[in-house]
Parts: sequence; C-alpha cells; structure tokens
Amino acid sequence: MRPPFPVRVLGAAASVAVRRLLAVLGIMGGRGAGKTRAGAEWVRQVVEGSLPLDRGEARRVALVGETFDQVRDVMIFGDSGILQCSPPDRRPVWKASERKLIWPNGAEVQAFSAHDPERLRGPQFDAA
Ligand SMILES: Nc1ncnc2c1ncn2[C@@H]1O[C@H](COP(=O)(O)OP(=O)(O)OP(=O)(O)O)[C@@H](O)[C@H]1O
Ligand SMILES: [Mg+2]
Repeated sequence: MRPPFPVRVLGAAASVAVRRLLAVLGIMGGRGAGKTRAGAEWVRQVVEGSLPLDRGEARRVALVGETFDQVRDVMIFGDSGILQCSPPDRRPVWKASERKLIWPNGAEVQAFSAHDPERLRGPQFDAA
C-alpha cells in the first residue's frame, strides 16, 4: 500500500538537521519502526522546494547503504523508499546508467555502496 503523504516523520529533529544545526542524525529502532521511511522523508525534505519545480536546500545528495543493490531495492524502490514516498508531481526519475535519482527541480541523489567509499570523492555533495 502506498504510504500517505505528506508525512512529517522526523518533525523537529529533521528540521534542525535540514538547517544544519545537526551534522549527523542517527536513528535506532526495531523491525518496522520507520527507519527507511524516515530516511526517505528526510531526503525529500532536503531536496524539495515549496513547489515541485522550486529548488530545495540541497541539490546533490549521496545515498549510502551496505551495498548498491540494497540502496536501490530498499531505499529507492522499496515499499518505504523514496519513490513510494513521493507524490506524483515531485517524484524523481531513476537513471540507472548514472545510479541517480533526478527530481523535477533538478536535484540529484546518487546511490553508493559503503564498501566503495572512494567513489564518494569528487561530486561535492550537499548532504548524505
Ligand atoms: N511516520 C510515519 N507515518 C506513517 N507511516 C509510517 C511512518 N513511519 C513508518 N511508516 C510506515 O511503517 C512501515 C514500516 O516502516 P519502515 O519500512 O521505514 O521500517 P524500518 O524501520 O525500515 O523496518 P526494517 O527494520 O524492516 O527495515 C512502512 O509501511 C512505512 O511506510
Ligand atoms: Mg528498513
């Protein structure tokens, strides 16, 4: 079932992270606690602007998981992932050849495996 939107998952914690008062935000929870969904909503909150084509706080975001397949299958295409959590007019498009999600406002999220940290050098991400 598609989750309802918009949902303010992280509330105050997300907004201080978005305003860069927090450098790192960690979430610990059991099965089904909402970790993946909170991550997807956080990404939405930093890349989306007020209207679908408006710029958000971040233009380039790195999405890092244990493996690349996990990032793609769970964090991007999963039931609680970014695509399911995004309303149609703000839904990004997956560009497999570049391992990137591209939003209607031009923001980009690039998927990485934690096993290959050197790949993160270069693109100058606004958030990860
Ligand atoms: N704040 C919320 N409002 C509405 N639904 C939510 C919220 N947080 C999580 N959910 C829903 O609860 C379900 C479980 O969430 P999620 O998949 O994020 O859990 P998880 O902690 O990542 O679980 P797992 O340990 O299995 O990886 C999903 O259907 C998700 O959409
Ligand atoms: Mg999860």
